[in-house]
Amino acid sequence: MRSVKGGGGLLGAQVVAGSVVVVVLLMWVNGLFHQRVEMSPYLAELARNGSQPRVDVFVVLYKPSCINRAAIQALAQHTARRIFVVTPERYCRIVETFDPAVRCMDETKVVPGLTVPALAAIMEELGLGQARAGWYFQQFMKLLAWRNVPDVTPLFLVWDSDMIMLPQYRSLDLKGRLRLMRDDTPPVMAHDWYRNMTGWPLYDSHHDFVAHQMPVYKPFMLEVLKALQLEDPLHASPPTVLAWVRRNMQAVQQRFVATGLSEYMVYCWHLIMHHPEQTALVEGVHFERDYSLHPLTQAARLLDGNCCPREAILHAYLQQVAKQPGLEYAGYELGHGLGQCNFKAAPFADMYFHPSEMAQYQALLPPLAAT
Ligand SMILES: *[C@@H]1O[C@H](CO)[C@@H](O)[C@H](O)[C@H]1NC(C)=O
Ligand SMILES: *[C@@H]1O[C@H](CO)[C@@H](O)[C@H](O)[C@H]1NC(C)=O
Repeated sequence: MRSVKGGGGLLGAQVVAGSVVVVVLLMWVNGLFHQRVEMSPYLAELARNGSQPRVDVFVVLYKPSCINRAAIQALAQHTARRIFVVTPERYCRIVETFDPAVRCMDETKVVPGLTVPALAAIMEELGLGQARAGWYFQQFMKLLAWRNVPDVTPLFLVWDSDMIMLPQYRSLDLKGRLRLMRDDTPPVMAHDWYRNMTGWPLYDSHHDFVAHQMPVYKPFMLEVLKALQLEDPLHASPPTVLAWVRRNMQAVQQRFVATGLSEYMVYCWHLIMHHPEQTALVEGVHFERDYSLHPLTQAARLLDGNCCPREAILHAYLQQVAKQPGLEYAGYELGHGLGQCNFKAAPFADMYFHPSEMAQYQALLPPLAAT
């Protein structure tokens, strides 16, 4: 007010100053705008090239089975350039027979020192119990395994080992945006961990992005790891990564230990908040977590009591599944439900195939080291 009374000269100066502020503001907003709509030319070109691109895929595999064999073969058929299978080394000879695209990765070498027993010890010490150590180990492997591969494709997939890709699957939409599958089931209990590690607010606590697969654009995954406070993710030494794993486990609340951290959620939340232009949220049913209750597979199970049908039946089943409109991939859970099918029984300790195939794969196991 005072300046208006102060006369024309001052008013003029204010108008000039005001204009400068407005122009600077506009430039700033414009800059922001440009940053936000800038899309990856690489992903746009991949999308323009059509169909599902040939990319590297990372699969963490707990034990070989008829289903992860089918999953790996479907990946090889529809998308994979190479399939990196992170698994105990003793299973390498078996998984390498699944497809020539398989590259077996000894799970204890991804981060030397980070093993299931080492993680169990950390969890025990933090009062989290050991029961979920294998599950958390898998989450860390899915976040970290690609770092050890020098020429990994800039777009790669992280894929759950019991999800069977169907011909309709696409990781990008027509504009080259990463397709993220959104689910309406309550989310996993990863919120506290996420807030604690990233210091960010939650994007959305009503939806679940645990879609059992994700298309990963390498620069974005690097950002995610940095947001989770892993400095220099590509070059971090094993002790640094181990300390980082421990830090993550400290952020997991004991009452949420069942699913207290999520590689899928943190990646999807990051993209939605920081790269909305590069993200396409996909709603509705495009995948089934468990699609094993088909009449064909049920009949086969009733006939011989094994949840792994013979290969010919599995093949016929997959042809039926591929015809489901809109379905892009389908899970087949051997270890859950269905009375468990003896999944954890002694004869299946190392693998789970139809009884007619067990001997053939057992012959590929190295003898147990003498103790
Ligand atoms: C798109 O296709 C062309 C022709 O096959 C190929 O040279 C190019 O590398 C592809 N682009 C990407 C990003 O893969
Ligand atoms: C994360 O948790 C630690 C240990 O419980 C706590 O000291 C820290 O303040 C938390 N940080 C945030 C950002 O919540």
